[in-house]
Amino acid sequence: ISDTVPEAPQDPLFSVTSAFYDDPSDKKIDLSIGAYRDGKGKVWVLPVVKKAAALVALDPEYTHEYLPITGLVEFTDAARKVCLGAESGAIKERRVTSLQTVSGTGALHLGALFLSKFYRPNGIDKPPTIYVSSPTWSNHPQILGLAHLPIATYRYFDAANRSLDFAGMLADIASAPPKSVILLHACAHNPTGIDPSPAQWKQLASVMAERHHFAFFDSAYQGFASGSLDRDAAAIRLFASYGFEMCIAQSFAKNCGIYGQRVGCFHFITSPALDADVQDTLTRVGSQLALLQRACISNPPVYGARVVSLILNTPELFDEWAEDLRVMSGRILHMRQQLRIRLEQLGTPGSWQHITDQIGMFSFTGLTEEQCLLMQRAHIYMPLNGRISMAGLNLENLEYFVRAMDRVVRE
Ligand code: LMR
Repeated sequence: ISDTVPEAPQDPLFSVTSAFYDDPSDKKIDLSIGAYRDGKGKVWVLPVVKKAAALVALDPEYTHEYLPITGLVEFTDAARKVCLGAESGAIKERRVTSLQTVSGTGALHLGALFLSKFYRPNGIDKPPTIYVSSPTWSNHPQILGLAHLPIATYRYFDAANRSLDFAGMLADIASAPPKSVILLHACAHNPTGIDPSPAQWKQLASVMAERHHFAFFDSAYQGFASGSLDRDAAAIRLFASYGFEMCIAQSFAKNCGIYGQRVGCFHFITSPALDADVQDTLTRVGSQLALLQRACISNPPVYGARVVSLILNTPELFDEWAEDLRVMSGRILHMRQQLRIRLEQLGTPGSWQHITDQIGMFSFTGLTEEQCLLMQRAHIYMPLNGRISMAGLNLENLEYFVRAMDRVVRE
């Protein structure tokens, strides 16, 4: 077999991070992967995570035993409340089934496999097309394609105005065949940093309800857009309140800074409008999801889930977590302001308002591929689509970054 295997393309994000690590320059700046760094450019272990990890280490009940196939129940129950809200009708009516996953990627994979195997809208006997935003996270098409879901796009980014092409988005979603699967970023859209407004989310929900579309939310940045877990879950909660049958891929990688532990959750919500026994539906759906999970990973990893579970289930730790989130989102916001101010002070050609309009972990700078390559020559590592991870900037490296950006824009 090996003589016929072609070499795969490099990952557009992780390859940039590797290039950063390989660069011996002391000027280098890593703006590639969406991972938080503190004001000194250091990896930040959230204080609350340190505390919870120490408690887990001392817990005589903690062992390395296998978890059940669907994961740690106290974690999945609490994770569900984080995204749907403790007062969620869907939770109270017991319309949600949840499985712990290998972070958000694992949840997307599980949901994609499930839809590919079981969702047959409009009587067509093949996996349904899934609509993703243009652009979207570079791993989405790979994950969805692996599950044999055909992929189509809906308009999202208006490059000329560096804003949301809401009319295009709405029109494309409205004209997709009824019962289409629409992948939505719950908040802090990756890579653009631009989300629909609350009023626009309502319009989207109405159109999707009219078209009987299926919503698949990717929630990887809850707490990073506004600094508030509740506000950042507003779109998901709105859709849940409409009674959609829907699913959610939830990641704790970013908001707990627990990236490498791969802590995530997949939630499937049934609709109250379905004329069926809800518990029977959930049993059927949950059993098939568990079967897929068993085949993919057997059962999910235990350590990170214990740590996050302790945070979610201990009120004082939960409050500390919310505070840590505010620290991260606050520093990112400050860097956005500083970046825009410095570019404007230098008179760098173009408008830089989008840097402070955008939200979450990323800024979609508008730099072209060629300009991004020039930035790399200046030891500044960013993916070629012009996205920068704002957390990679700090008051020590900002000036160097701004000067380089000014230079490449003028070249
Ligand atoms: C990113 O977009 O940088 C993150 O989601 C990390 C990743 O896995 O790509």
